[in-house]
Amino acid sequence: MLPPPLERALKVLVIGGGGREHALAWKLIQSPRVEKLFIAPGNPGTALLGENVPIKATDIEALVRFAQEKAIDLTLVGPEVPLAAGIVDDFQRVGLRIWGPSKAAAQLEGSKVAMKEFLRRHNIPTAQFKVFAKAADAHAYVEEIDGPLVVKADGLAAGKGVTVAKNAVEAHEAIKSIMERQDFGREAGRQVVIEEVLWGEEISVFAFCDGHNAVLLEYCQDHKQALDGDQGANTGGMGAFAPVRTLMRPRDEDEMVRRILVPTMSGLVHEDRPYVGLLYMGLMLTDSGPKVLEYNVRFGDPECQALMLLLKTDLVDVCEACIDGTLEKTTLDWHEGVSICITMAAKNYPADNYLKDQPITGLDSPEALKAQVFHAGTSIAGGKLVSSGGRVLSVCALGTDLDQARAIAYAACDAIAYTGKHYRRDIGRRQEARKARK
Ligand code: AMP
Ligand code: GLY
Repeated sequence: MLPPPLERALKVLVIGGGGREHALAWKLIQSPRVEKLFIAPGNPGTALLGENVPIKATDIEALVRFAQEKAIDLTLVGPEVPLAAGIVDDFQRVGLRIWGPSKAAAQLEGSKVAMKEFLRRHNIPTAQFKVFAKAADAHAYVEEIDGPLVVKADGLAAGKGVTVAKNAVEAHEAIKSIMERQDFGREAGRQVVIEEVLWGEEISVFAFCDGHNAVLLEYCQDHKQALDGDQGANTGGMGAFAPVRTLMRPRDEDEMVRRILVPTMSGLVHEDRPYVGLLYMGLMLTDSGPKVLEYNVRFGDPECQALMLLLKTDLVDVCEACIDGTLEKTTLDWHEGVSICITMAAKNYPADNYLKDQPITGLDSPEALKAQVFHAGTSIAGGKLVSSGGRVLSVCALGTDLDQARAIAYAACDAIAYTGKHYRRDIGRRQEARKARK
């Protein structure tokens, strides 16, 4: 008997150039369905997997032109900025297949104010909050509360526009930074959200979505603060591991689906902006159940890197099911064991004056070769690999358990060298640290 006909081999484009996009590219080229992979703009790591295209992730017009010229069959968008700017609508307008939420659906992440108002409209559990358009009113509110508060810039701020203020002094400083100095730009600084502090364990919940159906991925935990013991400034993410099985009790899971996931999906359908792509729900597991800290409209970085190592199912099939509205028939298969991703950052990160242009060595050491290293902020200068971003590398490993995954990944981090390298030593150890303190 003849074998069944092969489906047409696909030309796939990944948009973005960080560790998340390197991990997506790494996963995609394992698909027998992918014939050719382009990454725009990519990085020195993705250059080894496919063809980097020198177009910025924000240059939507040029990306549409490129996808048309090359007859790209499927485009995956990594970062939030092009999604919030409407890249999905622009691709679809000219008949190109693209995986991600529409501009209207992507506003869930674009504005914290809009996100909190969505949560309130649909009665989805979240921290109590107030919105301020005038710095003086925000300062007055801080005086009135006189206790710990969270201050958030309204617009996109690369994960850095949030301050969990222990006291009024820190809250006033955050308001000054966001609204008066406009450290995150004029748009992001127009309004602030001030909300109550939620206490509990933080967990990243991801779901593939096709507009109406959602399929949950393995739960993941990120470590947002720069220093061990969850000290220091908030960053884009210093390390993650998955699966996280012990944190989400069955009661929490049931509540998360019933009170968060389902009303989020149906709320968006009701508002005529059904969600397609990857929905990221940052949750706090509080004593009174899970509450939404934030939505993101794309994969987390570095959570994506850990999840791509763990996912067995062909990513192309899942993305197509999202686009075609056939997720109901999709289940996800996972490798056994635990996957971890350690962010190797630059000296001074997350401050803007992080150290750049440092030559990187040790990627070909036996220790690094046992791990899976994704490039996050690197470039080639004078024929050499150098650091160019605040987060430089994502060092990942899949182990039989968390200890083994940690051992492989940390041996690689130790073997990789560049001036000013910084990484947390305690990724995956938060629960133990909490227990030890009790
Ligand atoms: P966001 O970008 O809103 O997720 O905030 C970034 C980080 O700040 C979160 O991942 C939490 O670690 C922390 N955070 C945000 N909101 C709160 C809150 N209401 N209570 C406690 N921590 C928070
Ligand atoms: N790791 C957190 C984020 O991607 O927003």
